[in-house]
Amino acid sequence: MGTGSHTDAIPLSGRFDGTVGVLGAIEAVASLRRAGFTPRRSIDVIMFNSEEPTRFGLSCSGSRAMAGVLSAAMLASLRDSLSNHTFSQIVSAAGFGGADGEAAMLAAARLAPDAFSSFVELHIEQGARLEAAGVPIGIVTAIAAPAAFTVDFYGDGGHAGALLMRDRHDAGLAAAELALATEAAALATGVEDTVATAGVVLLQPGAVNSVPRHAHVELDVRDIDGARRDAVVQHILEAAAEIAARRGVRVETAFVNSDPPATCAPAVVAAAAASADALQLPSMHMVSRAYHDTLFIAQVVPSAMVFIPCTGGFSHRPDEFASDADMEKGVAVLALTLARLSLE
Ligand code: GLV
Ligand code: MN
Ligand code: MN
Repeated sequence: MGTGSHTDAIPLSGRFDGTVGVLGAIEAVASLRRAGFTPRRSIDVIMFNSEEPTRFGLSCSGSRAMAGVLSAAMLASLRDSLSNHTFSQIVSAAGFGGADGEAAMLAAARLAPDAFSSFVELHIEQGARLEAAGVPIGIVTAIAAPAAFTVDFYGDGGHAGALLMRDRHDAGLAAAELALATEAAALATGVEDTVATAGVVLLQPGAVNSVPRHAHVELDVRDIDGARRDAVVQHILEAAAEIAARRGVRVETAFVNSDPPATCAPAVVAAAAASADALQLPSMHMVSRAYHDTLFIAQVVPSAMVFIPCTGGFSHRPDEFASDADMEKGVAVLALTLARLSLE
């Protein structure tokens, strides 16, 4: 069976997202050893590669590959945001992969069908529901589905002083309108599980005295209902086309990923809940609105997650924080859950 998470991060983020699930897994296994526990099944601790899209633009590349849902073509298209090298070049330079190319790398990464009987990931909640309820442990029953896509507007640009307002085709204003249309499309579902974000807006040439000629927008839309999420994505794409036509700018769109939501395995959820009970730690079932490596591992292995509170629900920002006491409780629940599942 498996447990683990990631240690990579997004810019200006905190120290707990992912890392708690890697160091916590190592500590959980170490504590089982210290207690003299002998599992019937082996327990593998995994640190997944590139859970965040920070470096290669695609989330969860490691767990996607392990689940067998990362294609060689998709892998070949990934570029390092710093050096523009391909994923294969970076992996080879680090002493892995090799000359056999993406297909061989993916075949080696893919989990064998019987590799794991179950998988559990420990993570900070990244929301404030546990803290608000005063409950130390969350047991995740479903993980929301993310879709990520890009919209590029191409206008004319020009001199910020000389070009009259009536003559402009400002790509930056098209992007600004699209960000507002994105907010409106998410709010229009009337369901709080729908969220949509225009997290990247890059303008070129990026000069205070120049009308933007190119705007690159990256969008993220999520929901626990995949069909509702797709309808919101469609609304945003239609808004992009309408804005472009009205403003006389050209638009191009491209999907980065569009993933199905995950349902956690009842048996793994039950094992985690029973472990919290046995430790006399109050727990509550919840959905995860953030995505995790478990979103992909759950496609091939019965999986669930254990959440611990983080202060104020803050995450993806520098003041992200989980207390030692809460991490200790999460590790204890993880250890007991692993112990239970490893005996089955
Ligand atoms: C994970 O980092 C996410 O964006 O949900
Ligand atoms: Mn994250
Ligand atoms: Mn994470």
